[in-house]
Amino acid sequence: MKIIKAKDYEDMSRKAANIISAQVIIKPNAVLGLATGSTPIGVYEQLIKWYQKGDLDFAEVCTINLDEYRGLKHSDNQSYWYFMQEHFWRHININPENVHVPDGSNLDPVKACKEYDEIIKHSGGIDLQLLGIGDDGHIGFNEPGEAFELETHCVDLTYTTIKANARFFAREEDVPKQAYTMGIKSIMQAKKILMVANGAGKADIVRRAFYGPVTPEVPASILQMHPDFTLVLDEAAAAAL
Ligand code: GLP
Repeated sequence: MKIIKAKDYEDMSRKAANIISAQVIIKPNAVLGLATGSTPIGVYEQLIKWYQKGDLDFAEVCTINLDEYRGLKHSDNQSYWYFMQEHFWRHININPENVHVPDGSNLDPVKACKEYDEIIKHSGGIDLQLLGIGDDGHIGFNEPGEAFELETHCVDLTYTTIKANARFFAREEDVPKQAYTMGIKSIMQAKKILMVANGAGKADIVRRAFYGPVTPEVPASILQMHPDFTLVLDEAAAAAL
């Protein structure tokens, strides 16, 4: 596990974007595992800037997102597909056929998850997986207590997660109660994993995840076992280390 401390959010975003851009330069047809949430927005902004300067080319890149709310269509402005479109894809030259998010509009969880596992397999495997961390240590939507061995599956979101994500919805009642997420097994199969964390609110969970025992109660703790895991965090998120 490599820990890179950044001064602030901007510095964290630039350092993480540097790692992703190195991946894309070394392997122009890289498979990037992408994440939503407020934390990676600055990373996407930085990558867009470098693309606009002509330093990055996404024409052959393939992306596979971690998760999606069950019941939301691509066109729904609360869907993770929409989030990715707004914050990243529509600003770069990625081929629309090469971007993937679990199909939230497919209400059949078995089919939707199986299809997504097929997409991951056919991609040849994720070269670099970007992650944020939830307040309770979740990654993707793998909530505390879930088995580490799972591939894509349907989860019941915990109240903590629903509450944390309510800021993106008009009302807390509007937050979907279920999601499709890549499992820990799929995440751990990525060749490289890069996590970003910022702000004092993440300090305690970062300490528990990376300086505590590996346990399904803190899903992100499994990343301690990954052979190529890098954590980039700002001073506030590193305060309890
Ligand atoms: C959601 C996403 C996670 C993300 C988490 C933290 O639950 N499914 O992938 O890491 O939010 O979000 P934020 O970065 O806004 O703290």
